Amino acid sequence: KEVKLWGGRFEESVTDAVEKFTESISFDKALYKQDIMGSKAHASMLAKQGLMSDIDRDTIIKGLEEIERQIEAGEFVWRTDREDVHMNIEAALTDLVGEPAKKLHTARSRNDQVATDFRLWCRDAIDGIISRIKNLQIAMVELALQNEDLIVPGYTHLQRAQPVLLQHLLLAYVEQLERDAGRLLDCRARVNFCPLGACALAGTGLPIDRFMTSDALGFTAPMRNSIDAVSDRDFVLELLSANSITAVHLSRLGEEWVLWASEEFGFLTPSDKVSTGSSIMPQKKNPDPMELVRGKSARVIGDLVSLLVLCKGLPHAYNRDLQEDKEPVFDSVKAIVGMLEVSAEFAQNVSFNRERIQKALPAGHLDATTLADYLVKKGIPFRTSHDIVGRSVALCVSRNCELQDLSLDELNSLHPIFDKDVYEYLGVENSIKKFRSYGSTGSACVAGQLDYWIDKLSIS
Ligand code: ARG
Repeated sequence: KEVKLWGGRFEESVTDAVEKFTESISFDKALYKQDIMGSKAHASMLAKQGLMSDIDRDTIIKGLEEIERQIEAGEFVWRTDREDVHMNIEAALTDLVGEPAKKLHTARSRNDQVATDFRLWCRDAIDGIISRIKNLQIAMVELALQNEDLIVPGYTHLQRAQPVLLQHLLLAYVEQLERDAGRLLDCRARVNFCPLGACALAGTGLPIDRFMTSDALGFTAPMRNSIDAVSDRDFVLELLSANSITAVHLSRLGEEWVLWASEEFGFLTPSDKVSTGSSIMPQKKNPDPMELVRGKSARVIGDLVSLLVLCKGLPHAYNRDLQEDKEPVFDSVKAIVGMLEVSAEFAQNVSFNRERIQKALPAGHLDATTLADYLVKKGIPFRTSHDIVGRSVALCVSRNCELQDLSLDELNSLHPIFDKDVYEYLGVENSIKKFRSYGSTGSACVAGQLDYWIDKLSIS
C-alpha cells in the first residue's frame, strides 16, 4: 500500500472499511478544474514570494496542465486510497514531476483548499443557473406575446375570482424568476471571497501573499479571518436557499400547468414533444415533465435541509463533517438546472386552447367585483355595494344565469341606482376593460409590463 500524504506519524494503515467510508473522491472529483486552477495560482504566489523557484513553479504548472488534460481525456486514474480530489491531484503531480511537486502544499491545507475550490465551483454554478433563469423568462415572455388578448379565469382558493389576461399571469412568473436571479446574484457577491492561505485554521508564519491568489482567481478579496474562512459553509446554505425558493416557484408553475392540461380544465395542450404515454392505457398523454418539475422541488428543499442540519452545532474550525457538503450542493444545482431547462422547453411547446377557455369564462361570476366597483362609482359605499352584488349573485344562482342576464328591472329590485350603463361593466370582456391600477390586469398595464420585459431581456 502507498504511504498516505499524511502518513508520517502512522504505523498502521487504515482498514478497507474506513478507507471506503472516508473517501470523497467518488464525488469531489467534480472539483478538479477548480482545484487545478487554485494550485496554479498558489504556485505562482509561492514563487513570487520566494517560497519556490520559478523553475519549480513552471514545472508544477506544466504538470498540472498535463493532469487536467488527462482528466478531460478520461485517461486519469482516480484512486480511492488517495482519498479526495486534492490528494489525488497532488500525488499524481508528484508521480509526474517528482521533487518540485512536494513544494506545492507549502502554506496550504486541504481545509482552505477545499473551501476555495468549492467557492469557485459555486460561483460558476450560480452563473449557469442565472443564465437558465433568463432563458425561462424569455420563453414565458414569448408565450405571452403569442397569446395577446387571451382572457383566462383568475383564481383564489382555486375558485373563480376575477378575469385576468393570460399575459398577466405569465408575467407573474417572470417577476418571480427575476427575484430568484437577484437572490443568486446577492449570494454570488458573498461567495466571491477567497479562503486560500487560511491554511488549516490559523494562517501561516510563511510570507505568503493572499491578495495575489485572491486576485488571480477572480475573487473580490481574501477572507479576513482564517478561522471563518475554513469553517463556514454559509455560502452554500445561501445558494441552496436561493435554489429552494426557485424550486418552489417552479413547482407552482408545474402544478398549474399539470392542472390546466387536465380534461377538467383543458386550457392548455402540451405538444407530443414534451409529453409521455402510459404503458397500459393507450389513450394517455401525460405532462410528466412538469410533474417532475413539481416533484424535483422536493429534493432541492431536502438538500438545503441536509446542509442546515449538517452545519448546525459544528465547533470551529474545520470538521470532517463538512465533506458531506458537496453532494447536496451538486444534487441541488443539477436538479434546478434541469427544472429550469425543462420548464423553458415546455413553455416553448404548449398551446392555450382559446375555445375551451372562452367557453369556460362565463361561469363563476368573474365580473362581480367589477359590478361592485360600478356601484362605488355611483357613490355607494363599497361595503354596501358588496352586499348588493352579493344578493345579485344569489339571484343568479337561483335562476342559474349570469349577472349580465339579469334585467334592469331585476337589478333595480335590488337597488334603484342601477342604470342601463351597468351592462358596460358586465361580462368578462367588459369587466377586464375596467382595470386601470398600476400593476393590474388592464390591457394597457399589461402592455407596459410586456414592454418592460422585452427591453430588459433584450427580446427582439
Ligand atoms: N475531503 C475533505 C472535504 O471535502 C477535505 C479534506 C480535509 N480533510 C482533513 N482531514 N482536514 O472537506
